[in-house]
Amino acid sequence: MRVALFPGSFDPFHNGHLEIVESAARVFDQVVVAALANPQKGVPLFSLDERRQMLEESLQHLDTVRVETFSSLVVDLAREVGATVIVKGLRAVSDFENEMQMAQMNEQLSGIVTLFVPSHSAHSFVASKLLREVARLGGDVSPLVPKPVAARLEERFR
Ligand code: PNS
Repeated sequence: MRVALFPGSFDPFHNGHLEIVESAARVFDQVVVAALANPQKGVPLFSLDERRQMLEESLQHLDTVRVETFSSLVVDLAREVGATVIVKGLRAVSDFENEMQMAQMNEQLSGIVTLFVPSHSAHSFVASKLLREVARLGGDVSPLVPKPVAARLEERFR
């Protein structure tokens, strides 16, 4: 069985992420979507548990996808869940440098390769950081996120 791991902060999960999961689910037998507690990114908007719930609600239409949370090295989680590939989305050239560096480090640590999936142009500007800022200041981001995420954002910033 071919298992892929799609790791991220997902604070919050958005339609650009969803598109990558749906693409990976067409290629792999199982996709594990894993949300990380990332101290480097400061205090998150949503707790890890809230992010897990939003992921589960947003991905329930995909039978072969399951959700995890983690606070370890991504390659350790990959080994734990039996993933042979890490899947990441690329929105623009600006993503490339950091993603390439992480892919090479992960390959060095474990031999696990990273597969980059280009995002659709309609999602190339969508980033969790921007969504948080726009939602916090009262803008409508509901066209850019799955319904369960839109509901949580509405509740948080109402
Ligand atoms: O959505 P993000 O914040 O860009 O995702 C970054 C993430 C979670 C994929 C990255 O920070 C990560 O893999 N963290 C886990 C810790 C780890 O393995 N670090 C070394 C990566 S080379």
